[in-house]
Amino acid sequence: MTTNVDLAGTFQLGTRPVDRMGYGAMQLAGPGVFGPPRDRDAAIAVLREAVATGVTHIDTSDFYGPHITNTLIREALHPYPDDLVIVTKVGARRGDDASWISAFEPDEIEAQVHDNLRSLGLDRIDIVNLRMMGDIHAPSEGTIAPQFDRLAKLQRQGLIRHLGVSNATPTQIEEARAIAPVVCVQNQYNIVQRDDDALIDQLAALGIAYVPFFPLGGFSPIQSSKLSDAATAIGATPLQLALAWLLHRAPNILLIPGTSSVVHLRENLAAAKLDVSPALFAELSAIGAT
Ligand SMILES: NC(=O)c1ccc[n+]([C@@H]2O[C@H](COP(=O)([O-])OP(=O)(O)OC[C@H]3O[C@@H](n4cnc5c(N)ncnc54)[C@H](OP(=O)(O)O)[C@@H]3O)[C@@H](O)[C@H]2O)c1
Repeated sequence: MTTNVDLAGTFQLGTRPVDRMGYGAMQLAGPGVFGPPRDRDAAIAVLREAVATGVTHIDTSDFYGPHITNTLIREALHPYPDDLVIVTKVGARRGDDASWISAFEPDEIEAQVHDNLRSLGLDRIDIVNLRMMGDIHAPSEGTIAPQFDRLAKLQRQGLIRHLGVSNATPTQIEEARAIAPVVCVQNQYNIVQRDDDALIDQLAALGIAYVPFFPLGGFSPIQSSKLSDAATAIGATPLQLALAWLLHRAPNILLIPGTSSVVHLRENLAAAKLDVSPALFAELSAIGAT
């Protein structure tokens, strides 16, 4: 059966094919991505609906909650379908006050990989992203070689299938690629936040996936009158059109919009079927062009 998700097409993450329309699980934890969800059954329902609709790419981390999101994924979906690719990230931990704290020593990185294996109930994780915490929402320079080396060692041991980086500068991506293949880069990007425009095209030429976090604008979803007007004109919602624009922006962009709501999930997945003409794409691209 062809679903909306299939209409977005697929991309090869290393040896693993995924649908370009995926799902980001961060919003399933409690307020501030801390503690349990307000409605556990609703969180489980979102995950099951995503996979039932054809999603094959779920983004998570053991520091969401902490441990909450991975535990929900395991409860909802384990034993996992063969075609499901779960991508996690390491590099941080949570304080008791919900703060996000860098946990970037190689031994801490290794311990987090084991935490993710345990909480997801896996012998091997499909993809682990090394998440840089230098500046929480924007990349900042600094060597990542000791940390990426450690992940490469765990990959050689068979605990990780493929590696990626998150919140990374082009220099850090090159540094990582000199150590081991990088299959994806996860940085902040959306129709109004376009710092990585050049990087996306460079990665496309290398066959590396670009997975924007905050594709809808994050905790305060994007508001733009131009986007809203264009969406109304084609009978879509503004956030659906923001996702459709990303799918048209570059073939290596994979989407992981986050939501805690089945209704929003359905809306987001349906964005894959929107027809974005070249004229509409140009109009939308002008919204966030610098
Ligand atoms: N690598 C990193 O550093 C990093 C950082 C942040 C996030 N991530 C990953 O990226 C994924 C996506 O980011 P995100 O979830 O933070 O932000 P996002 O996808 O840009 O937006 C999520 C926000 O939009 C709302 N929303 C979603 N669909 C909606 C709809 N159809 N209509 C109205 N509101 C809607 C959600 O609220 P509702 O729950 O009410 O729908 C939530 O507040 C995360 O889930 C996580 O896996 C990675």
